[in-house]
Amino acid sequence: MYTLTFVSMISLVIGTQWGDEGKGKIVDLLASRADYVVRFHGGNNAGHTVITTGKIYTFHLIPAGILHKKVVGVIGNGVVVDLEVLEQEIAMLKKNGIGLRNRLLISERSHLIMPYHKGVEEIYERARGKESLGTTRRGIGPVYADKVSYNGIRLFELLNWKNFVESFTFQAQVKNKMLKAFGIRQISIKNELERFKKLRKSVAPYVTDTFSVLQKAIENKKNILLEGAQGIMLDNDWSLYPYTTASNSVVGAVNIGTGIHPSSINKVFGVLKAYNTRVGGRPVPTEFNGKIADLLRKKGAEFGATTGRPRAIGWLDLEEVKFACKINKVTDLVITKADILSGLSEIRLCLGYQLNGKKVSYSSCGLSDVPRIKPVYKTFEGWKEDLNGKMKKFSDLPKSCQKYINFIEDFLGIPIKIVSTGPDRKSNIYK
Ligand code: IMP
Repeated sequence: MYTLTFVSMISLVIGTQWGDEGKGKIVDLLASRADYVVRFHGGNNAGHTVITTGKIYTFHLIPAGILHKKVVGVIGNGVVVDLEVLEQEIAMLKKNGIGLRNRLLISERSHLIMPYHKGVEEIYERARGKESLGTTRRGIGPVYADKVSYNGIRLFELLNWKNFVESFTFQAQVKNKMLKAFGIRQISIKNELERFKKLRKSVAPYVTDTFSVLQKAIENKKNILLEGAQGIMLDNDWSLYPYTTASNSVVGAVNIGTGIHPSSINKVFGVLKAYNTRVGGRPVPTEFNGKIADLLRKKGAEFGATTGRPRAIGWLDLEEVKFACKINKVTDLVITKADILSGLSEIRLCLGYQLNGKKVSYSSCGLSDVPRIKPVYKTFEGWKEDLNGKMKKFSDLPKSCQKYINFIEDFLGIPIKIVSTGPDRKSNIYK
């Protein structure tokens, strides 16, 4: 049997594109060797799906590795937490016989997503009209904005009820004035305090100093798997701002969101989908429409795991992925959804960008450049065979599929260790 011997002490899984690369499945796979699986940024804008025999689990906050019994799931301080969503996720796992006693730890430093955050997000999205950013409407931007402008409320405060009532009332009063001014329903401070009183009780057993737990785990040479959310193309600094998410998703976010120093990370697994997708606002340099896009969307179930919105479809963009690998020092690659490309007569791969006839790099392009960028494509012969779960070795794959994957590996200069050939946790080829 193949063993995941390449999983070393501290490993990180990141998405090299716009999120939705299939990280949930890969985290679940690598978590079979982990003691701790740790979320370090983002919130319930993420949707990480794991498909086990006959069951589909979608995780928004709890780390996707939690299905393995010995794994302790950690929600680090960099994560923003909607307590109601967390409560629902805990209940869903319980219903499926997955207990979390001593297996779920949440940092007391995590900031809380408040009901008014969704309202504030609505103000901006509505005011932008047709130019709305297409956020997930989970309050992610406003909660991070409150965090950096000293207006956030953390689990620390919630556990100290008197403090919480004071901070919450002050913030809610200010936010209610804003909501009223823009015609958005205000929140009832009294009702919300009642709600939080109950939520506080159910979440309190899980709240702890996760920094100390993780440092101790490192001293004890435990295996830690860091679970990135979204993708590098949505990083707040490195994306096509403002078509971004509010957190940083690059490797540096591990330090901020857990206290673990990036130099302690032994392996960085970059997950890339065999083509490109984007949910929410654009632009996507390699986007295309028409029959093939519709086919890939349908076959690949390319609808947001969090919002259900249809995703834009594009060819795999190696200019972006090259950037993602560089900034994160990716050591190993995982390619997902190669099976979705089966049946296409031709497949295109973007190798770089040109602007006004000159070669340009992803990092040099601003938002206004992207609509004028001309992707430089290489065209590959497609394959007809269905890859789904049937092929066990890399050499079993159709020759043209091998050629496509080998080209990507050579172009990026990083080994592709896993080829995922279907949604089920067992459909993988180890290269
Ligand atoms: P927000 O994170 O909800 O503020 O949304 C900002 C942008 O990031 C929108 O375009 C979202 O569609 C996108 N986004 C946020 N989280 C994810 C994710 O987990 N997968 C894919 N796109 C995401």
